[in-house]
Amino acid sequence: MRERIENINLSIRKISEKAAKIDDIVRFDIGQPSFDTPEHVKEATKEGLEEKQGYSPMLGLEEMREAVLNEEKQKKGFEGLDLGLENVMVTTGGMGALFAIFSARLGRGDKALFNDPCWGPYKMISEVNGNEWEQVEYWNDDRELRPEAREKIAEADMMVVNTPGNPTGYVLTEDQAREIGECAGENDTFLSLMRSITDWFTGKNITRQQFTQMIQLL
Ligand SMILES: Cc1ncc(COP(=O)(O)O)c(C=O)c1O
Repeated sequence: MRERIENINLSIRKISEKAAKIDDIVRFDIGQPSFDTPEHVKEATKEGLEEKQGYSPMLGLEEMREAVLNEEKQKKGFEGLDLGLENVMVTTGGMGALFAIFSARLGRGDKALFNDPCWGPYKMISEVNGNEWEQVEYWNDDRELRPEAREKIAEADMMVVNTPGNPTGYVLTEDQAREIGECAGENDTFLSLMRSITDWFTGKNITRQQFTQMIQLL
């Protein structure tokens, strides 16, 4: 793994370090939030620190996993699915989830497929894990799956779909999500769907107690 890490030359950090030396540069390289942490989140963090500290269960606190499960089950398209706690795992950030998914699904030399453009670290995780990777533009201007993308999906062992997409902000319509899901299913290509979780952080659907528990896991 050490050699593979040393060979990674895709880092956005290296590009941004160089760019930062240029005068009058506008930074789009890292998504620092442009708003303050909401008060209820700050309060829950303080409360969490007052409570007992320690290791969390491997899969995440059961109460939290139940909250995640209940929220997911209410979502459109999930109605008929037989989802249980065994389908929910809490990870340390999105990166932890990505590493776990890539490592569990791909063996050395297996191929991952990403949209073009895509979030850079997908490629780095693949390289560190010794996977092959390829990029193809998934969609045409009419929001249909491009024939070339269909061919690449058929060849890949796993594909990543990210909505809203990073770096473009492209959001899939329901028809697009169905089309790409069906294409992956027909070709037996594992579909890894990465979705923004910002709705959890608005405090709309999660109590302060549940949020305190989440903080303990982060
Ligand atoms: C598309 C995408 N996936 C995953 C991540 C990583 O998430 P985290 O910072 O929670 O590890 C990011 C972070 O910017 C991202 O933009």
